[in-house]
Amino acid sequence: MQTADFRRYAHQLADWMADYFENIEQYPVKPPVQPGDIKSQLPAGPPLEGEAFEQIMADFEHIIMPGMTHWQHPQFFAYFPASRSAPSVLAEMLTAAIGAQCMIWYTSPAAEELEERCMEWLREMLALPAGWAGSIQETASAATLAALLMARERISNFQVNQKGWYGQPRLRVYASEHIHSSIPKGVRIAGFGEENLVLIPTDENFAMLPDKLEAAIEHDLSLGSQPACVVAAIGTTSSTAIDPIRPIGELCQKYGLFFHVDAAYAGTALLLPEQRWMSEGMELADSFVFNPHKWLFTNFDCTAFFVKDKKLLTDTFSILPEYLKTPLDQQVNNYRDWGIQLGRRFRALKLWFVIRTYGLEGLQARLREHIRIGQWLAAEIEKEPDFELLAPVPLNLVCFRYHPEGGYSEEQLNRINEQLLQTLNDSGKILLTQTKLNGKYTIRLVAGQVETKLEDVQNGWRLIQEVARGGMNDR
Ligand SMILES: Cc1ncc(COP(=O)(O)O)c(C=O)c1O
Repeated sequence: MQTADFRRYAHQLADWMADYFENIEQYPVKPPVQPGDIKSQLPAGPPLEGEAFEQIMADFEHIIMPGMTHWQHPQFFAYFPASRSAPSVLAEMLTAAIGAQCMIWYTSPAAEELEERCMEWLREMLALPAGWAGSIQETASAATLAALLMARERISNFQVNQKGWYGQPRLRVYASEHIHSSIPKGVRIAGFGEENLVLIPTDENFAMLPDKLEAAIEHDLSLGSQPACVVAAIGTTSSTAIDPIRPIGELCQKYGLFFHVDAAYAGTALLLPEQRWMSEGMELADSFVFNPHKWLFTNFDCTAFFVKDKKLLTDTFSILPEYLKTPLDQQVNNYRDWGIQLGRRFRALKLWFVIRTYGLEGLQARLREHIRIGQWLAAEIEKEPDFELLAPVPLNLVCFRYHPEGGYSEEQLNRINEQLLQTLNDSGKILLTQTKLNGKYTIRLVAGQVETKLEDVQNGWRLIQEVARGGMNDR
């Protein structure tokens, strides 16, 4: 492609993107497609000769777009949000155009130093302990795996890195029964073995019970196992439950355990001083992860990973072959040693664009509005006798179910709500996801896109009630 053509097409795409931003409501949130519908429209083999951009773009419009789920749609309330904002998209365009691989300072000094500065900003913005060092990782799953590996190496004095598990005691990892699936996955990959992940019971708010944690640690010690690590959640995936950081941290200090905090979604709320009760005691933790790509309006992927002991992190990961050495290694920070991947995208740029475009106060205002909207919905649900909240709503994730009169059993209620969710999602007008809380099928609604308005959630809530009370009556 000639540069002149690139220029022309790039202008066209800028228009396409702006139109998409403006017209997103015209798309169904979830596409009405069946498995195989998209693939069957794609040729079985690649083209032998290059094709015109216009042709590729036409296929994008007619084949790809009809098969997309629109995560930025105002009626997308599923999972946790994946952020997208205009400044972040603009920065991603620059990142792609520059095409730098930012594994070490030498391969892109500005990328490395901007990442350092942005991490210092985030540390201050979230009031994390001074002195902690941060880096951008691809996902919270990757950061949690890095934390588990740090825990493993600290407790084994780097022997597992060197010799494997030979001669090691049985190492135990603790997390609440509501922890995200990235923790068992990390426990598997780091070699602890999933049987050594101990799930700690939770209280009525789905938060870890520290006395049960201590009992589990004592039990393991009595059997000759070695407690190694605790993972706590600030904001579980099912219900944004907040594990009590200080008492868990104190137990970690008492027993010499590594303490990782997974705040993938809710960590962003620490930008708000009034939400910092959630991180009380954070100085006792060893590492902390949150995803600007979930609620801080920065496009996927962008995960902020902070550690107390930078040397432990780099000692866990650092391997320096001749071909990666540079004359400046002693003077600079090389992020290649801070995690699993070597090659790194220039992810700090979009974060920088986002923080500068909105400013701390602009970000805080949006988060406060999202929380206000979540609280509004919770209050509305409480007013309706045939709906019930199934978990506290500390932020903006609302967990509820339809519970009409009629003496339905728990099993019937589960079926009614499963059917309600499917009917709503199949309508293409809204997208929600589910979880199970105390065995109850639970509908989750979370609204946290940069443009989210109260009106969007009001529309969604109206639709939920109509479908539940109307179309659902002939059970
Ligand atoms: C609490 C929690 N931890 C970890 C993750 C995993 O995030 P990622 O997709 O960045 O690995 C999620 C995803 O929703 C989450 O909710």
